Amino acid sequence: MDNNGKLHVVMLPWLAMGHIIPFLELSKCLAQKGHRISLVSTPRNIKRLPEIPQNISALINLVGLPLPSVDNLPEDAEATIDLPPNKVHYLKKAFDGLKNPFACFLEDSVPDWIIYDFSSYWLPPIATKLGVPCAFFSLFNAASVAFFGPPSELMGNNEESWRSLEDLTYKPKWLPYNSIVFLRLYEMLRIMDTMKENVADVEDAYRYGSAVNGSDVVLIRSCLEFEHFWLNFVEAEVLQRPVIPVGLLPPSVQGRRDDEIGEWAEIKVWLDKQNKGSVVYIALGTEATLTQEEIDELALGLELSNVPFFWVLRKPLSLEGDSYMLPVGFEDRTRNHGVVCMGWAPQVKILAHSSVGGFLTHCGWNSIIEALSFGCALILLPLLAEQGLNARKLHGDKIGLEIPRDEQDGSFTRYSVAESLRTVMVEDKGNYFRRKAMEMKEIFGNKDLHDKYVNNIIQYLQDHKHVRNAACSINITSISS
Ligand SMILES: *[C@@H]1O[C@H](CO)[C@@H](O)[C@H](O)[C@H]1NC(C)=O
Ligand SMILES: *[C@@H]1O[C@H](CO)[C@@H](O)[C@H](O)[C@H]1NC(C)=O
Repeated sequence: MDNNGKLHVVMLPWLAMGHIIPFLELSKCLAQKGHRISLVSTPRNIKRLPEIPQNISALINLVGLPLPSVDNLPEDAEATIDLPPNKVHYLKKAFDGLKNPFACFLEDSVPDWIIYDFSSYWLPPIATKLGVPCAFFSLFNAASVAFFGPPSELMGNNEESWRSLEDLTYKPKWLPYNSIVFLRLYEMLRIMDTMKENVADVEDAYRYGSAVNGSDVVLIRSCLEFEHFWLNFVEAEVLQRPVIPVGLLPPSVQGRRDDEIGEWAEIKVWLDKQNKGSVVYIALGTEATLTQEEIDELALGLELSNVPFFWVLRKPLSLEGDSYMLPVGFEDRTRNHGVVCMGWAPQVKILAHSSVGGFLTHCGWNSIIEALSFGCALILLPLLAEQGLNARKLHGDKIGLEIPRDEQDGSFTRYSVAESLRTVMVEDKGNYFRRKAMEMKEIFGNKDLHDKYVNNIIQYLQDHKHVRNAACSINITSISS
C-alpha cells in the first residue's frame, strides 16, 4: 500500500475467458478508485482482452507468463475456448507449471493482496511464505458454493465424499433440508464424463477445495439483494471464514472490442425493425456440444413457437465437421422472423437492445447476470458444470422457466421448447416471468448498488492487509534477537 492508502493487488484467474473477463471487470472497478492491479495470464489471453479505458490503463498491468508446453496440448491453446471440454485437463497441467514463474513474479512485485481462482490450489502456501494475504474469488454464486460444500469434503478421500453420485444428485448432507439446489443424474453424468481423464496431479474437487481452504477470505460474485440466505449460509455453515459479496460486476455496454463494430451495425439494423421486447436471444455458451437431435428439436421448437429470434450457433471445438446442421428448410421457413448467426456475436449489446425481451440460455452465471442487468426474461436450458444449479435456483425462485426435460436422459422435445418460449415471451400466463425479470433489473443493473459492494471490498482489503504480515514480523524478531 502506498502513502495514499492505495493498494497493489495481483489477480490470477483460471485460463478461461469466462473467468478472465470477470477478474478484469473487478480489476477495472478497483482501478477506478485509484488502486493498482497486476492481472496475470498468458500472452495469447492478454491479447484477447477487450481494451481498457484510457484513464485507468496505467493502473492495470497485464502480465503474460508464457504457458509451459505439455504433451497433447496444442501449441496455441491457452484458454478453455481453444479446447473441447474433455481436453481441458491438459490445460490444467500446463497451468500448474506456472507455479514457479508466478512465485518469482510475486517475489518481485510484493503486492498487498492476491485475488485468485479455483485452479491455483498451489498458490496459498506461496503467498504465506511471502506474507501476502490472499482472497479466493468465486465466479460461482453462493448457492453453488454451498452445494459444492466445505473444503474438507472436497479434499477428503473419494469414496465417501463430494464425488459420490448419490450426494450430488439427491442432496449433499450439508445443505438445508428444503434446498431447491441440486443436480440431476444426467447432469452429473455429463460432468463425470468431462472429468474421466486427468493428467494433472490433482482432481478438480481437490483443486477447488484446496484453493478455498488456503484463503484468508472468500469473495463471491453476488449480492445480498439476490442471495442473502445463501451468502450467510456459506459463511456460517460451509466455509467458516469471512465471505464477502463483491456485487455482480454488471457489464458495461461500451468499451468492448473494436472488431465488433461492423458486425454490430448489421445486427442492430435487424433488431431495430422488431417490436419492443418481442425477440428471444439464444446462445448456449461456447463449450457445450449439442447433439444433432438437440439442435433439431431446438430449431423446430423455435419454428413452432413463432417467436422472433436471434440465435447464436457457434460450432464448439469438440464438434467434428464444419458446423451444426439445421433441419432442412429451417432457415427458409424462418427467414421472416429469425436470424441464425454462426459466428461470434456481441452478446451484451444484443441483450441491451430494447427489441430483445427474452434469453434462452445455458445458464452460465456470466450470461444470467448480463441478461438480468437488462431485464430479459429467462428460458433455461442448462448444459454443463454448475449450470444445472443455476437453473434450479432461478426456476425455484420463479425468475426463469426451465425447459422440461426427460429426467433420465435429459432429452427435450420441440413441443416443450415451443411451449416454454411462448409462455415466457408471449402468453399472459408468463407475465410473471417478464415482471420478475424487470424486478431483477433493479438489482442486477443497479450500478450504484454494485459500486457500494466494491467500496466495501476495498475497505476490507485495506483493513486486513496485515493478516499474514504478522507471521513475518515474528520471524524477523526472532532472527534479530
Ligand atoms: C475514468 O473515466 C470515467 C468516465 O469516462 C470516470 O467515471 C472515472 O471516474 C474515471 N476514473 C479515473 C480513475 O479517473
Ligand atoms: C485447511 O487449512 C487449514 C489451515 O491452513 C489446515 O490446517 C488444514 O489441514 C487444511 N485442510 C485440509 C483438508 O487440508
